[in-house]
Amino acid sequence: MVKGVVLHGGLGTRLRPLTHTGPKQLIRVAGKPVSQWVLEDLRDAGVREVAVILGTLSPLRVVEYYGDGGWLGLDITYIYQGYPYGLAHAVYLAKDYVGDEPFVVYLGDNILAGGIRRYVERFLESDADAMVLLAEVEDPRRFGVARFDESGRLVGFVEKPRVPPSRYALVGVYMFRPPHIFRAIEGLRPSWRGELEITDALQRLIDWGLRVEYAVVRGWWKDTGTPRDILDANRLLLDERLRERRVLGRVEPGAVVEGRVVVEEGAVVEAGAVVRGPAYICSGAVIGSGSYVGPYTSIGRGSRLERVEIENSVVMDDVVLRDAGRIVDSLVGAGAAVEASEAVPRGHRLVVGERAVVALERGGAR
Ligand code: TTP
Repeated sequence: MVKGVVLHGGLGTRLRPLTHTGPKQLIRVAGKPVSQWVLEDLRDAGVREVAVILGTLSPLRVVEYYGDGGWLGLDITYIYQGYPYGLAHAVYLAKDYVGDEPFVVYLGDNILAGGIRRYVERFLESDADAMVLLAEVEDPRRFGVARFDESGRLVGFVEKPRVPPSRYALVGVYMFRPPHIFRAIEGLRPSWRGELEITDALQRLIDWGLRVEYAVVRGWWKDTGTPRDILDANRLLLDERLRERRVLGRVEPGAVVEGRVVVEEGAVVEAGAVVRGPAYICSGAVIGSGSYVGPYTSIGRGSRLERVEIENSVVMDDVVLRDAGRIVDSLVGAGAAVEASEAVPRGHRLVVGERAVVALERGGAR
């Protein structure tokens, strides 16, 4: 049986201050943590047993959220990595867990348009030692990049190259058949950035003459490393996976809920509030009177909006937004509060850290 390995560690430095107290993979986009989309992709590809590799940022929150995985139709085992010594280091920790089985490594902060089922099937039908997914990108310099020879054969990989050898970046999904990948990792030395690189391990497999195949992904792929990426992923998921309207919470008479909107059970849209889809309102959230939730917005569990307009934004759990004017393209961390004591006419673009308190003043922000 094919197994899964989800990398849930890392430091998430590019997402600070949103990741001071929790892993970025738990940021909820379109109603679910990014890593839940990942785990569901694995399940939908036929994987039942998954090892989740934990890092130093509140690993217990991950365990609390996913538990034994039964509610997702998975059997989850946790492995503690601690400090992020690199993707290859994290993969090696799963050596005993996977045993002789083929396995799929999925970075817990990556999202693919159509899931991974077709690629996993293709890998299992082949007898390749490894299979990687590639995506054509505008600027490959921030990724691991594939190198091809004149005949179009895959001959290697370069990590974050200054001069990219192709426009094909490594997507965060890798498939392996033991044991060669573990042998390859055993011989690695830390790179200039002090990490054991999965690209170096793949390079060794190719150099040893083993079969490393690739598939080019169709549709979009998002590596949610930055605030911009989170907003993009939220927009893409609301477009792609939110196919229908589902209103289970309470919509008071006099409230307007238009278009593809999910209002989870236990959420409330009060009289005089407007929600225009695609949008996702999690359980326990309250959209108060005089508030407007515009397209491409996700409101986390237990968050409360009072006399606020918000659009194209992600609001995490237990947030309070009160009299804060118009908020666009923003990311608000869990437990944060954004308030204004006087009318603030301008629109705001915000990235607010977890539990931060932001007081807006007239003429202050732009
Ligand atoms: P990155 O985004 O490269 O690492 P990071 O989370 O530390 O981010 P930043 O650069 O902003 O500090 O990692 C890709 C994914 O792999 C991400 O889901 C975190 C995970 N990861 C591990 O689980 N262990 C590791 O050793 C590393 C390097 C990453």
